[in-house]
Amino acid sequence: MEKKAIGFLDSGVGGLTVVKEAMKQLPNESIYYIGDNARCPYGPRPKEEIVEFTWDLTQFLLTKNIKMLVIACNTATAVALDEIRKRVDIPVVGVILPGSRAAIKYSRNKRIGVIGTVGTIGSNVYEDTLHEKHPDVYTASISCPKFVPLVESNQINTSIAKKVVFESLEPLTKMGLDTLILGCTHYPLLSPLIKKVMGDKVTLIDSGAETVSEVSTILDYYGITASSQEKADKVYRFYTTGSTKMFAEIAANWLEVNDIQVEKAILPKNN
Ligand code: DGL
Repeated sequence: MEKKAIGFLDSGVGGLTVVKEAMKQLPNESIYYIGDNARCPYGPRPKEEIVEFTWDLTQFLLTKNIKMLVIACNTATAVALDEIRKRVDIPVVGVILPGSRAAIKYSRNKRIGVIGTVGTIGSNVYEDTLHEKHPDVYTASISCPKFVPLVESNQINTSIAKKVVFESLEPLTKMGLDTLILGCTHYPLLSPLIKKVMGDKVTLIDSGAETVSEVSTILDYYGITASSQEKADKVYRFYTTGSTKMFAEIAANWLEVNDIQVEKAILPKNN
């Protein structure tokens, strides 16, 4: 069991922000990642479609014999986590609970902002979870539909990105927030710009990064953590339904690794 990999899925490159943290916190673990870049973004899609696509990706990863699944996408977590859990017999972790927990922990004034895709914000899942955990918390949520296309097209360092981030987040700067949840795994790639707009007094919560601590706890709970002897045999495998070249470029930059091998994924139902 310990030699099996952890599977990560996302609509595109966003889940790499979770993988980066997993590489740091869980250096003995093998990782299989699939990004559905050909059908990204998931954010504006109907719920049924998001569940269907998330299931396609899950089935692909199950063919790799994974021991645990991380839904490294807030939109898919918001809409499909419960359904996927019902369909598989390995532990499945989403990114929303860990991000909410961290925000409650770090916020001093309990004024917490949430940014995410239209699907995540429309589901109200962050607001519900935050209020459930802390009834007195004040929340302000906005969707930022222009962020994901910027990240997917590798335009994070452009003046367009600067303008889009400023215009999208400006309304949140007047609300006395001290904590902002990046409720989309693509957004940490824009965090230098987000930080600039929100200012030093606002703590940014990377929901994906917070998730990895939970993954670690669950691996230990089930006794399936890879041991240090496994480290030498560990593998990192990346798959995309879209352009392998673009994926490799973004992944190499973000993960700070030179030679990323990315393969084209053929989803089970297309076989
Ligand atoms: N990375 C995703 C998320 O965390 C989804 C982006 C999208 O496909 O719209 O929500």
